[in-house]
Amino acid sequence: MEPITLIAGATRIGFCVDDDDRLRQVGFGPDLDTGTLVFAPWLYPLAYPTYGEDPFAAPALRVTNADGTPITRLVCTGHDRGHHDGGEIIAFSLRDEVAPLTVRIALRSWTDTGVIEQWVEVVNDQAGPITLHEVAAATPLLAGTAPHLDHFRGDWGAEFTPLHDRLTPGAKVLEARATTRPAHEVPPYVCYRPDGDVDETTGRVLAASLAWGGNLRIAFETARHGGVRAWFGHLPTGADYTLDPGVTFTTPTVLWAWSDAGRRPLTQRLHRWVRAHALRDGDRDRPVVVNNWEATGFDFDADRLDRFCRETAEVGGEVFLLDDGWFGSEFPRDDDTQGLGDWAPDRRKLPDGLAGVGASAAAAGVRFGVWVEPEMVNPRSVLYRDHLDWVVAVPGRERREERNQLQLDLCRPDVADHVVGVLDGVLTPDIGADYVKWDANRMVTEPGSTALAADRQGNWPVDVVHATWAVMDRVVAAHPDTELLLCASGGGRMDLGTLSRFHDVWLSDNTDPVDRVRMQWHAAEFLPVAALAAHVTRWGQRPVAFACAVAMSARFGFDLNRDVLDDDEWAVCRRATAAYRRLRPIIQRGDLVRLVSPEHGPGAALAFVDDDRTEAVVFAYRLPDRDTDRDPVPDTLRIVGLDRVRRYEVTTIDLGADDPSTPECHTGAELADVGIPWHPIGACTAAIHHLTAASD
Ligand code: GLA
Repeated sequence: MEPITLIAGATRIGFCVDDDDRLRQVGFGPDLDTGTLVFAPWLYPLAYPTYGEDPFAAPALRVTNADGTPITRLVCTGHDRGHHDGGEIIAFSLRDEVAPLTVRIALRSWTDTGVIEQWVEVVNDQAGPITLHEVAAATPLLAGTAPHLDHFRGDWGAEFTPLHDRLTPGAKVLEARATTRPAHEVPPYVCYRPDGDVDETTGRVLAASLAWGGNLRIAFETARHGGVRAWFGHLPTGADYTLDPGVTFTTPTVLWAWSDAGRRPLTQRLHRWVRAHALRDGDRDRPVVVNNWEATGFDFDADRLDRFCRETAEVGGEVFLLDDGWFGSEFPRDDDTQGLGDWAPDRRKLPDGLAGVGASAAAAGVRFGVWVEPEMVNPRSVLYRDHLDWVVAVPGRERREERNQLQLDLCRPDVADHVVGVLDGVLTPDIGADYVKWDANRMVTEPGSTALAADRQGNWPVDVVHATWAVMDRVVAAHPDTELLLCASGGGRMDLGTLSRFHDVWLSDNTDPVDRVRMQWHAAEFLPVAALAAHVTRWGQRPVAFACAVAMSARFGFDLNRDVLDDDEWAVCRRATAAYRRLRPIIQRGDLVRLVSPEHGPGAALAFVDDDRTEAVVFAYRLPDRDTDRDPVPDTLRIVGLDRVRRYEVTTIDLGADDPSTPECHTGAELADVGIPWHPIGACTAAIHHLTAASD
């Protein structure tokens, strides 16, 4: 018998069906044998172990049937194979042996980028409601001689802090439980290394991501008979979902990408896939955005914003983004204690409303962007006074506040309409905004909804994510040309599902460039830098040229008060913007090549190389020393990833001077094997090198 396989480059998965019609996983990884099965089918592990079938496995599926019976045993009734634009789709149909219950396990391959997505659908064919306790999107069994998991802490200000665990007997469980800023609990991006060691160009590694903007569970558990069973899904422990007859429950997708040649090709393929299939307009240049939040906070008026628009143009920025504090009349939003929800402009600050600021932006020749936090409300607001029943709450219980606010319940159709209307209100033609920062600054503490019956309250954490996405989809459909920046107290939301409605993400409120070098480095293991908003601020009080060079290696912008800069520093900002705009296509769409990792040392270097390796931009950073550092700063910077036989002109861009350095010429081989001198010597210095292939 031959396995049923789905292959996308090194990402290969195989299945078979045994004599008892059980669906089994033949293998998952770069060395899957697509030939004849080596063993009898029943010897392979179950592809989707259920509660009641394998007593030793964490169940992929646990259901209480309408008659109260607690077990499920799935038989495979067949599979369909088809094509989509980027590859193949396989869908296995399964049903329970006894209770009317249909399960579909679907997989979709993307052959150009070596990605496979998987998701599961459960259909209740029973006469009454059933309870879903566990429904994994995927639970593959992974081989491993020295299994390791790479994952991240996501806390506010410390997004993408890397963690590397050797998987020992037992389970490693990552759960997000507070619904609205899940990536602050668990950024849904992990890597599994079956053999331990992996570097940029050697070793086997699996990247995985759950495309879900809410509660989730990602677990890796050593299996009784060897290997590691992974579990990806959106029902964390104890989150039961009641499924009515005839209704289908669909899990989010899990994205898989294997590499058998280290991390670099994996990252490059992930970036291409995310740009092509997740991010909106992934191949369009991201603008240079100038935001006022760090500069003014809530304290501004129309004149200050008019000046901000002119400064945006002067520095070379393309969008002026007005942040929090522009709204609220009866409860003016002068701080975060009130006004949220009342989206009419504060006429004391803005006598001509948003249209006045839009006019300032237009006069300065820049685009206009507006911050909103449409899912939230301060109790001190007209909206709350008028609609006490619109918030997420449990009757008879205290409504606890976080940042003085409550969350609106998007499961209510009237609230969903209202929130769509908030966006329509800031995107009217007379205002002229075409850029929105969509924020969400609290988690859920009392998950209760007036939209759901008393016996369906447990469904809310899942339903609200679909409801939120539906609202976002309506906004996208109504305003297709508006660019959307995703924010949730920094990077509290950055899953591929939510991001697919957005152009980029505000990675973190922490904009200290020293922290940002490492944060952007790790975020860019999965997300293309075009999606990572990075603004120059005064966080950490680092040299402005260094802050600019760090932000330039991602989606560049400013959040800076001109008044605190001297003329030289302002000139640095202007040069940085000009250089960024010139080099933007390579930075935002080039292949990322990691050269020197800052994880364990104060040196960092990365390159972006264009498709045909004729042009590259290299950033090198010298960070302050830390007691924990063990890697030295290199003497030379070796630049790999270029064409070894071509000659490259290397220019060093000095943000402190108008003229670039005199170009030096080296072959790709010299750059890779010998390198160039390491430029950034003192702490908080940077070097930017532009490489162009000499025409032969
Ligand atoms: C959040 C965001 C910030 C800023 C403030 C405004 O904290 O992460 O960037 O927009 O809200 O209140």
